[in-house]
Amino acid sequence: MFDALTRQPDDPLLALIGLFRADERAGKVDLGVGVYRDETGATPIFRAVKEAEKRLVETQPTKAYVGPEGDPLFLDRLWELTTGDAGRGRATAGLQTPGGSGALRLAADLLARMGTKGIWLGLPSWPNHASIFKSAGLEVVTYPFFDVPAQSVQFDRMMEALGGAAPGDAVLLHASCHNPTGANLTDDQWRAVSALIAEKGLLPLVDIAYQGYGRGLDEDAAGLRTLLTAVPEALVAVSCSKSFGLYRERTGAIYAACSNAETALSVRTNLAALARTSYSMPPDHGAAIVSMILGDAALKADWMAEIEAMRLRVTAIRERLAAGLSGRWQVLTSIREQEGMFSLLPLEEAQVLKLRAEHAIYMPTSGRINIAGLKTAEVDDVIAKFLSL
Ligand SMILES: Cc1ncc(COP(=O)(O)O)c(C=O)c1O
Repeated sequence: MFDALTRQPDDPLLALIGLFRADERAGKVDLGVGVYRDETGATPIFRAVKEAEKRLVETQPTKAYVGPEGDPLFLDRLWELTTGDAGRGRATAGLQTPGGSGALRLAADLLARMGTKGIWLGLPSWPNHASIFKSAGLEVVTYPFFDVPAQSVQFDRMMEALGGAAPGDAVLLHASCHNPTGANLTDDQWRAVSALIAEKGLLPLVDIAYQGYGRGLDEDAAGLRTLLTAVPEALVAVSCSKSFGLYRERTGAIYAACSNAETALSVRTNLAALARTSYSMPPDHGAAIVSMILGDAALKADWMAEIEAMRLRVTAIRERLAAGLSGRWQVLTSIREQEGMFSLLPLEEAQVLKLRAEHAIYMPTSGRINIAGLKTAEVDDVIAKFLSL
């Protein structure tokens, strides 16, 4: 009976990880995988996370289910971290989810249940966005977001395309540290797109997965906060994978900002019902850690200091890459202005494959690089290899 299934292609990024592992050359460089790496190439566990884990071992009274909605304290604290003043006092429905992906999937299922037809997705985007939305039965409509050769946001074209959206359509926006381009909207552009969304009666779904890696914790949520004050309703999918280094603990949340408490209650019951028929109850370990860190002044300060150090490392490498590459590719001065872990280089597939074959520098054929995959000591050498293309 299983013969009815056809074999699915390997995820290109996972396949790339396999190729990198199998490469025995010394000095190989992995710019592919989308996790933060430190100067030793490790993806560290935050000090505050380790400490919170120790405390949890001592104090956690039970491993009984948390319930489909998760822990309300975690949800309140994460909402405050993400939305600050803009979210305080707002009628919201929040659900603890298995990572940001789980949050996006629940959002998509909710939209499908509401009868939402189309969701607008700026291109290029994280490939899983389109896959998740299509799996939930939504129609994905695309708008231009970023011009790769010019390395710039195509804001006018984006606004023109969204101008054609029908009332009730959903729009996916990255809050900051855009994956895969690192390009973000300016404050003015956030205001303009928020006004358009409000005026046309669209429902924004904001994906925030890299808070803290761009310009700072508050700065990376500023656009989302602008939007929240301008629109009556919004969905916000939060991932704690990168911001707390909790990748494998699958920690995140979906929030619906609503116009009144009664609607929020209805949305919450629908989200909970969707979760119940999917994974039933969310994992709790990561959420318990995040809640403990955000609720303890000393742990929070230490976490903030550590993520700031990570941010500064990424920013410094961006600076070096921009300086080193812009002599040959003038447009790559933009690497300096881009934010977060990723940039999307305007390379031909043949050039990507040449870097891989001749210099053991690994990135997907799209040209997306993870800036945090570079150690300071190897940046000059990597720049020289790019310049030899
Ligand atoms: C833009 C974006 N959104 C959401 C996610 C979801 O992350 P996770 O499901 O690991 O929390 C990712 C992960 O790479 C991402 O890049």
